[in-house]
Amino acid sequence: QKILSLGALSAALIAGTANAEVRDIRIGVDVPYEPMEYRTPDGELTGFDIDLGNAMCEEIGIQCEWVVQGWDGIIPGLMARKYDAIMSSMTINEERREQVLFSDPYITPPSAWFAPADVEIGTPSDETLEGMTIGVQRGTLQDNYVTDMYGDVADVNRYATADDMVLDMDSGRLDAVFLDFPIGKSTLLDSEAGDYKVVGEMITEPKEYFGEGFGIAFRKRDEALAEAFNEALATLQENGTYDEIHAKYFGE
Ligand code: ARG
Repeated sequence: QKILSLGALSAALIAGTANAEVRDIRIGVDVPYEPMEYRTPDGELTGFDIDLGNAMCEEIGIQCEWVVQGWDGIIPGLMARKYDAIMSSMTINEERREQVLFSDPYITPPSAWFAPADVEIGTPSDETLEGMTIGVQRGTLQDNYVTDMYGDVADVNRYATADDMVLDMDSGRLDAVFLDFPIGKSTLLDSEAGDYKVVGEMITEPKEYFGEGFGIAFRKRDEALAEAFNEALATLQENGTYDEIHAKYFGE
C-alpha cells in the first residue's frame, strides 16, 4: 500500500488517476557529474539530484531506486523501461520534449567555458577558439552547441563522462571545456588538480540549445507520475527542504 502526501494524492485525483499509477519507480542517472550526481569514496550515490530526488520520492510516498546509465543511452533506457524517470541534470529543451515528458524545472544553472589558468582565450568566438582543442560530454547540449558554433574552427573532443574530460584537461590535452557551470566549478575551479579559470560570460542563450533549466524526464504517458513530482517539488520548495539540499551542495 502506497502512502501518498495529500498534495500528491489530490493531484493524482484531479488527474483522474488516483494513486494507482504513482508506484515505486526506478530513476536513471549518469555519474559522475559532481555536485549534481556522483559517488562518495565508498561508492554511494550522492549529490543535489540524488538528495532532491530521494526527498521527492519520500514526499510522494514511493520507493525510488537509482539506476546508473551512461549519458549516451539515457533516453533510450527510459524508452526501453530500464527505469521510469531520468534525473541527471537533464536540461529541458524542445528537441528532448519531442521524446519525453519533463517535470517543472528544479534548478536553472548556466553553461560556462573553463580553461587552464595559463591558456589565453579571451571572449570565446570563431577567432579566439580557432585551432583550440575543446572538450564536451558527448550528447549533451554543450556538445550540440560547440559542434554547431565552433566545430569548423576548433577540434571538438567528445567524452563519455564528464570525469574523462576533466582527466584530459588535467593532463594538458585540452585548451578549454564547455560545461554546465556547477560541474566546472566543482571539478575544476574547486579541485586541487590544477589551476583553472572561467572564460567569458555565463551562457544561457540561445534557448533552443540552453533550454529552461534541469527537469526530470518521464515517458510521455506518465503524466500522473510527472504531476506527483511537480507537486512534491512545490511542497519541498515551500517547506524549506529544497533550500537545505541546495545549501548542502552550493552553499548559501
Ligand atoms: N545539462 C546538460 C544536458 O542536458 C548535460 C547534462 C549531463 N548530465 C550528466 N549527469 N552527465 O545536455
